Amino acid sequence: MAAEVLRGLSLPAKSIPPKYFYDAQGSRLFDVITKLPGYYLTRVETEILRDNQELIARRVGAGTCLVEYGSGSSVKSRLLIDACLPAAYVPVDISREHLEHSARAIFDRYPGLAVYPTCADYTSPFELPLPVAGLPRLAFFPGSSIGNFEPNAAGDFLRGVAQVVDAGGWLVVGVDAKKDRDVLDRAYTDMGGITEQFNKNLLANINNALGADFDLTGFRHLAVYNEGAGRIEMYLVSACEQRVSVAGTEVAFAKGERLHTENSYKYAPEEFGAIAEQSGFECVDVLLDDRAYFMVFLLRVR
Ligand code: AVI
Repeated sequence: MAAEVLRGLSLPAKSIPPKYFYDAQGSRLFDVITKLPGYYLTRVETEILRDNQELIARRVGAGTCLVEYGSGSSVKSRLLIDACLPAAYVPVDISREHLEHSARAIFDRYPGLAVYPTCADYTSPFELPLPVAGLPRLAFFPGSSIGNFEPNAAGDFLRGVAQVVDAGGWLVVGVDAKKDRDVLDRAYTDMGGITEQFNKNLLANINNALGADFDLTGFRHLAVYNEGAGRIEMYLVSACEQRVSVAGTEVAFAKGERLHTENSYKYAPEEFGAIAEQSGFECVDVLLDDRAYFMVFLLRVR
């Protein structure tokens, strides 16, 4: 983490990977974001999954090993568990505290389901638990977290998932769609300042993990839609000239200087379909809500 953070802070355009939002507090703040009126992504994806439970079950079949990438609070996975009756559930998340709490809740709710919480950074290869070897695989990557990868990296990630899932296995992936700028602006800047707290939690996480001394009041939240690139860009903007100590290294910020914290790509259905097809998947269904705000792709490994 120290090496990655210091590398990002030494770039001419400072940048830190968004995975560092998600310590226990960041995961909690993200859960609050998912319930904000303007953050339509979670509500709409849940509605699509609920409306299509039967179709998904028919395609995927029962008795799989459900592997959820970035399981967070494991809320949407319940819709797949109810529909597809998997034999095992492997929630994968970087935040151990959040993972254990959510896995316990799933275990209590589905006593017959084998649950194997796996604490890992899913952007790097990780091992599946031994007892699930031999089960057909259903990967689940909800929430448009795929949008937090650069498009090329999204392709690489999907190729990795295809290897985990193996020929004939399935991936259910949620992807946010391109839409009006106003709707996107409201999703990424809320009046109550929760998204701002989430954004700044990246600094708090670095303070705690690396003994840094970021002053959270010295930065403000900025989210802008870059229409040409098809992405929301999130930044923390330095409110003044300041110096910060990070893992023993001094880092200078000019007043108004931006620290890039996240890209959140939005796709047209055919754009994401092409990435999936190039990554070893057959695009079997694209499920949408009435306003085409969000898409759930059912992909099968070729
Ligand atoms: C996790 N990820 C899909 C969220 C997003 O919408 O890109 C993270 C987020 N950033 C700001 N609000 C939510």
